[in-house]
Amino acid sequence: MHIDILTLFPEVFPAFLGHSILGIAQEKGLVEFHLWNIRDFTQDKHKKVDDRPFGGGPGMVLRPEPVFRAIEEVEKEVSGTVTVPPRKILLCPQGARFNQSMARELAREPRLMLLCGHYEGFDERIRQGFDFLEVSIGDYVLSGGEVPAMVIIDALVRLIPGALGDEFSTVSESFSEMLGEPPVLLEYPQYTRPREFRGMSVPEVLLSGDHEKIRKWRLEQARLRTRQRRPDLLKE
Ligand code: ADE
Repeated sequence: MHIDILTLFPEVFPAFLGHSILGIAQEKGLVEFHLWNIRDFTQDKHKKVDDRPFGGGPGMVLRPEPVFRAIEEVEKEVSGTVTVPPRKILLCPQGARFNQSMARELAREPRLMLLCGHYEGFDERIRQGFDFLEVSIGDYVLSGGEVPAMVIIDALVRLIPGALGDEFSTVSESFSEMLGEPPVLLEYPQYTRPREFRGMSVPEVLLSGDHEKIRKWRLEQARLRTRQRRPDLLKE
C-alpha cells in the first residue's frame, strides 16, 4: 500500500511512522509513506498557505491554490508497483465518522492520499475540485488533521495481511468476531505473570491448558464486556 500524506507539518510524522507495527510493515515492504509539505506548492514570496475568510469571522482558511497544485503533483507521482491514482481522504470534523468497518474497506485500497488541514478550515473549492471521502475521527475539534491521519494509518496498516506477524494472525482466525468482523466485540480480559498479584489471581480457566474452554470463556467475557460498556455495538 502506498500512502501519500499532505500536510503543513510533515516533521511530526516520521517518529510515529517509523516505530512498532508501522515501522515493521515498512521494512517488510507492505506499506510506503510519502510525506508532502503543502507549503512547498505555494508560488508567492511569503509561501502563504492560508488567508482570512471572505465575509469575516475568526481564524484562517487554507487557500485553494497550493492545495490544488499539491494534489495534482502527488497524483502524477507513481511509485514502484502502485500506478493507480490514490483514493483521496480529507480529514475534517464534518466528515463521516471513522470506524473499524471503514478501516477494513480502506485497507484494501492500493493507494491512499490523506489531506490534513489546519487553522479554521479548507476553502470550499478544495472540496468541489476533487472527489474526497471526508473523514472525522470523532465529535471533537482538533487543531489539525495530522493526529486523525495517524489514527487512520495505524488502524489500516494493522489490517494489511502480514503486518501483525504470524503469531497474531493464527489467533485472529478463531476470534475474527473480536477483531473487527461484525458484530465487533470489545476485547476480553488478559493476564500475564505472576499468577497471584496483591491478592488478585488469574482465572483458573486460563491456566487449564484446555484451549476450547479458554476460547469459550474469552468469547463470553468479550460479549459480557460489550453488553455492559457498549451495548450500541451489539445493535449494529
Ligand atoms: N480535524 C480537526 N478535527 C478533526 C476530527 N475530529 N477528525 C478529523 N479531522 C479533524
